[in-house]
Amino acid sequence: MTIKINNGEFIFLCCNDGNLDLLKYEIKVKYPYLNLGYSCGRFLTYKTTKDISSNEIDLVFTTRWAKSIKKVSKKQLLSQEINFPDLTAHSLHYYSLLENERLDDEVSAFWGKVNTLNTENELYYNIVQVKTDEFWLGVHAKEQKCADFPNSNPQISLPEESPSRAYLKLAEAVHLFNISLSENQKWLELGSAPGGASYFLLQNKALVWGNDPAEMSPLCALNKKFIHIKKPVQHVTPCEIPTDIEWISVDLNLNPKQSLMEVFRICRNLRFLKGMLVTVKIVNLEHVEYVQDNINWARDRGFDNVIAIQLPSHKREYLLLLLNQSAPKKIRLPSNKIQTLV
Ligand SMILES: C[S@@+](CC[C@H](N)C(=O)[O-])C[C@H]1O[C@@H](n2cnc3c(N)ncnc32)[C@H](O)[C@@H]1O
Repeated sequence: MTIKINNGEFIFLCCNDGNLDLLKYEIKVKYPYLNLGYSCGRFLTYKTTKDISSNEIDLVFTTRWAKSIKKVSKKQLLSQEINFPDLTAHSLHYYSLLENERLDDEVSAFWGKVNTLNTENELYYNIVQVKTDEFWLGVHAKEQKCADFPNSNPQISLPEESPSRAYLKLAEAVHLFNISLSENQKWLELGSAPGGASYFLLQNKALVWGNDPAEMSPLCALNKKFIHIKKPVQHVTPCEIPTDIEWISVDLNLNPKQSLMEVFRICRNLRFLKGMLVTVKIVNLEHVEYVQDNINWARDRGFDNVIAIQLPSHKREYLLLLLNQSAPKKIRLPSNKIQTLV
């Protein structure tokens, strides 16, 4: 189901802290018919100057966008005045862009069953808290990226002992896209030190080959399921990597082009590879325009489904999820991409 947004109507968009400029730039380049309306913190509204439908818009640097319904105060939100259509058939998400994303207890209590994960519903109503007494109501469709998570955030907490915050980048991607991890599944991590992402994989009983010239945290280095290839990725040869690696995760402090070139060189002979999760750094604003080039580049190398998305824990970076034909069918993709997987 797509949502129609008519000429003169508004959409709203949320993004990660500190990334408003990336989102505005992306919109300017891709959708010049959208005009900026209102902006507050990491919340924006845009007015469309032509009739559009929700499946036309695919943005990397928004965590959630929706057709805007209206702005309301807390008093209005707690009154009978607000009527969402049948909430047994649609989902209701309530999330906040306030500090620490704290939710208002009264609002949560009043609306009751919000934020339950339901992958069946076609439409999701949104209540976004932008200020203490400012809420925006909107609606988005299931076919949009990570539709079933409020603000596309699976709310994963970082374990205290994790060697780095990179734990979250991988954990969030795995949850949002429903990638299943199994015992002794073989993963290669390029740019693995100090080891947050490898730690997440080891916690899930995977076998991990970590490549990085830097030291790994003892939490990974001393784990029997971890093998450290301690050198720059440029010096890694295919014979150092098992041919039955299933997944590759990449988080290199290299420029994006070089990073992708190394990844494609290394994955050439991996016959069992299901997919790759590549963190791409945004070094300057113009890099926003290269996202599509990177997607095309991956498609040219035979990856059937390629998704670019910014995860909740991302700073100036985004994830490229590259899936081979052998990727499990139950991976949760925006519905317009699923067609090519079946
Ligand atoms: C953002 S950190 C990776 C964080 C890591 N994934 C984790 O889970 O903790 C980037 C890493 O890229 C590594 N790196 C930079 N250049 C590299 C190269 N040429 N080959 C391999 N690793 C490299 C750095 O040593 C650094 O540890």
